[in-house]
Amino acid sequence: MRIPLLDLGEQYRALSEEIRAATDEVLSSQRFILGPKLTEFENAVAEYCGAPHAIGVSSGTDALLAVLMALEIGLGDAVITTEYSFFATGGCIARVGATPVFIDIEPDTYNISATALRRYIEKFCHRVDGKLENENQQTIVALVPVHLFGLCCDMNAMRAVAREHNLILIEDAAQAIGAQFPLENGSAKAGTIGDVGCFSFYPSKNLGAAGDAGLVVCRNEQFADRLRICRQHGMEARYQHQFIGGNFRLDELQAAILKVKLPHLNSWSAARREAARFYTNEFQRLGLEKKIKLPVEPYARSSLTNHHIYHQYVVRLPRRDELRQHLADREIETAIYYPLALHEQPCFEYLGYKPGDFPEAERAARESLALPIYPEISREAQQYVVNCIAEFFS
Ligand SMILES: Cc1ncc(COP(=O)(O)O)c(C=O)c1O
Repeated sequence: MRIPLLDLGEQYRALSEEIRAATDEVLSSQRFILGPKLTEFENAVAEYCGAPHAIGVSSGTDALLAVLMALEIGLGDAVITTEYSFFATGGCIARVGATPVFIDIEPDTYNISATALRRYIEKFCHRVDGKLENENQQTIVALVPVHLFGLCCDMNAMRAVAREHNLILIEDAAQAIGAQFPLENGSAKAGTIGDVGCFSFYPSKNLGAAGDAGLVVCRNEQFADRLRICRQHGMEARYQHQFIGGNFRLDELQAAILKVKLPHLNSWSAARREAARFYTNEFQRLGLEKKIKLPVEPYARSSLTNHHIYHQYVVRLPRRDELRQHLADREIETAIYYPLALHEQPCFEYLGYKPGDFPEAERAARESLALPIYPEISREAQQYVVNCIAEFFS
């Protein structure tokens, strides 16, 4: 039985008529850039997320890049982020000329550790003229937590640190659209808890386009306007460039497709959560939770529906590579997110980190394994995955 990591075929078949009608409409109109479909989609996402403003952009990477550029973050600045994420998180910080400062993760959630963050600030930073400066005389201007695998970071802690040190709080919510976080007075969705949130609609994401696409949400109207200018090369009036931006536009075809898909996002996330529950229950029933570390659900008791949206179902174990091979031999596809922690990437060698600086992220890179999960995965397929894992340990 061949089990892919992700299969979007069924999702497309269910919506193909609607998607074709939406793309036909765009093709008939011959309006491809900054048209009505984009506005409709932006309004729909803003409403879905509970965000005052939504700005469609060309990818999740460009969402991060446009935000950093619009904030004029650059040379001499440092931006704190997690050590364990997709490359784009650190890459965009470096691309604008700022220095990424990596922080280790919590071993159970894989998200940035608030304890490690506070320790870094206490040990290496001091205040100069009201600004936070690190040991390399760089001004720390922003904090970019990543909600990895569909689970929000401890945003109470992130908000407290950002407030205390006057940092801009940019959520990399690329993997977490719709994920909820419990606040003292209610809850909020990923991307809307800090100052600005970035989403990716890469095809494999919970809400996936038919190509590259992304979006930024924010509270501040002026900043939203600035982002709209930034995504058009910093151009406000025609051919008048106020500042240097880029071509970060989300096109009409992608916006039209995403608009068709958005109303289904909650049911897809619920189906992913049910699939995750099945894995977890089965692993526990077979006593395998002692052999493989299962995902945690820290906000499950908060009565939030989307407390985890399981973009990935990631387990960890010391014999990860052996298990991966065992599953591959049985036609079960798995993935490693991520085989290298960010400071281990060759391109970040210049930052001067060394092996052992981030023990939890380094261990996660050696031990984590993502199992097949998608809304339409059958219980039969999942049972086969569980049985093959049980066989590995027998
Ligand atoms: C955490 C994270 N940040 C940023 C990105 C970049 O998004 P995109 O691939 O749409 O550029 C991704 C996508 O893979 C991601 O997972």
